[in-house]
Amino acid sequence: MAMNCKTRARAAVLLTVSGLCVSARADQVEVLHWWTSGGESKAVSVLKQNVEKQGVTWKDFAVAGGSGTNALTVLKTNVVAGHPPSAAQLKGPSIHDWAEQGALVSIDAAAQGWDKLIPTQVGKYLKYDGHYVAAPVEIHRMNWLYINKEALDKVGGSAPNNWPEFFALADKMKAAGYVAVAHGGQPWQDVNLWEGVVLSQGADFYRKALVDLDQKTLTSDKMIQVFDTVRKIGTYFDNGTTGRDWNLATMMVINGKAGMQFMADWAKGEFARAGKVPGKDYVCVPRPGTTGSYMFNSDSIAFFAQNGQTSATPGQLVLAKAVMSPEFQEQFSLYKGSIPARIGIPMDKFDDCAKRSYADEQSAIKSNTIVPSLAQGMAQSEAVAGAITDVVTKFMHSTQDSKTAVQALAAAAKVK
Ligand code: BGC
Repeated sequence: MAMNCKTRARAAVLLTVSGLCVSARADQVEVLHWWTSGGESKAVSVLKQNVEKQGVTWKDFAVAGGSGTNALTVLKTNVVAGHPPSAAQLKGPSIHDWAEQGALVSIDAAAQGWDKLIPTQVGKYLKYDGHYVAAPVEIHRMNWLYINKEALDKVGGSAPNNWPEFFALADKMKAAGYVAVAHGGQPWQDVNLWEGVVLSQGADFYRKALVDLDQKTLTSDKMIQVFDTVRKIGTYFDNGTTGRDWNLATMMVINGKAGMQFMADWAKGEFARAGKVPGKDYVCVPRPGTTGSYMFNSDSIAFFAQNGQTSATPGQLVLAKAVMSPEFQEQFSLYKGSIPARIGIPMDKFDDCAKRSYADEQSAIKSNTIVPSLAQGMAQSEAVAGAITDVVTKFMHSTQDSKTAVQALAAAAKVK
């Protein structure tokens, strides 16, 4: 069997598992990801082209579904079945979970000098047991509000700084015939909307509630107010939210059907792809009450060990280096709406929203008002994040009262 494999797979690392010949090909990388919207596809093609130029074949394993809802299930199934991809889009604490199970391979050979090039809030997830197992792709700011500029001008409004201003603007938009808030009623989008309202109570409040899971904070009056505010925001949705993808909601703002969307800056990739310019066609502002705070999400490419492989293949190392290259870091984020994860990439080619994201991130680091996104798996384990997601989604898709939701939230935080 092994002999046959050898002749078949040139330049490949050969392994025999349960009598089957499986190859972790040194000159090929299979990359699982969920970058499938217009802006996202354009961004990931930069990486594909980069590795292919270096003689490594890119086998695309794209699984549609915002926030990786489907992709992460497919990843689990494939790993359990003994067919992990060479690399996958992952983030936050889940990288450590995979590494703990022995699923990841060290890419130290490609990571020389990285310690000085990666901000700590991102870097802490990329190493396991002192070894790099993942490469950082970008940093996304989660707490953005997007506003259609024509709609804003038409109602004579200005970008809201706080909730009373937001609701006054939403009322005007509604009266002028717009869907005031474009929303996709998928669990992760519900939680992203909700966590932005949590952040409007302050970065300390957010941290105590969603990072420390402090029971007093979770059951406080302020948390009840959070749910009340979310309930009120829901009255500005249209009837078509159920299951709507985030990029379709963004399209409603792009084409002027809707006035506003609460979304992270991957929405900006869609505006850019549609030829829309910030300041002229749309406005990006931190969500009401969150101006000084920065809620972040950061994608990484994590490297999987295929069938007993103990060190990274040449293809995996090429991919790891490509992810960290200044060219990729800049071009990917220009298409994607994010800012580079790598320190020291010049921001001059970026638009005003990205420049603001970068400046706000830097000042939030100094003022300790930078927080990880719960909705994006940056703050908690999958179990806790999943339990909180269930509570928020149930609340948003029912008539449950805020006090009951807060009790359920406190219980969800105790899930192990
Ligand atoms: C990822 C982003 C992606 C978004 C929408 C998030 O989980 O981190 O890169 O654009 O999902 O699919």
